[in-house]
Amino acid sequence: MMADPRAFRDALGLFPTGVAVVTTRGPGGERVGATVSSFNSVSLDPPLILFSIARNAKAFDAWAGAAHFAVNVLSEAQSEISNRFARALTDKWDGITDIAGDAGGPLIPNASACFQCESYAKHEGGDHLILIGRVTSYATTPAGTPRPLLFYRGRYRELDPELGIETPQGVDCQLHGW
Ligand SMILES: Cc1cc2nc3c(=O)[nH]c(=O)nc-3n(C[C@H](O)[C@H](O)[C@H](O)COP(=O)(O)O)c2cc1C
Repeated sequence: MMADPRAFRDALGLFPTGVAVVTTRGPGGERVGATVSSFNSVSLDPPLILFSIARNAKAFDAWAGAAHFAVNVLSEAQSEISNRFARALTDKWDGITDIAGDAGGPLIPNASACFQCESYAKHEGGDHLILIGRVTSYATTPAGTPRPLLFYRGRYRELDPELGIETPQGVDCQLHGW
């Protein structure tokens, strides 16, 4: 344990992230979902992504046993969805008409992007479990490019697309390649 866990969390919070809801089905076929900021890309070939789930999450056992799951990237208009899936409620899916994924798992409607995955590896991560998924299909919303829901210093934030930072020529091409 860090001497000052609050200070450690605050330091981690200086790294801004997007927000996603990860979804799967539990052993009894129930819909399972959790808000995460730990989503990240891992590999292009094979196509791999990761996120980590807290061992004290209510649905931890479902995540530990999941053979398939999906990562639904939220847009700025979906902070209510993020709040809803960040609580250990049994009724967090109430009123949500999910989309059926390829493996039968529930997908969140109107996500900016959705990555459907089969479980590739699960790694010990202290008080979290790291799930690596091999992306079997993905989709982006047809509704243009919605602004992302961002999370920074413990609060949701908006992206101001007008505030880009000029990069020297050459570097710019490197950024776009990545
Ligand atoms: C912006 C945000 C990001 C979060 N990121 C994570 C995360 O990466 N991993 C995690 O386990 N919980 C994360 N949480 C907390 C979970 O969403 C929360 O514990 C949720 O209750 C888990 O669902 P369950 O307890 O119903 O299984 C985050 C919450 C918020 C609001």
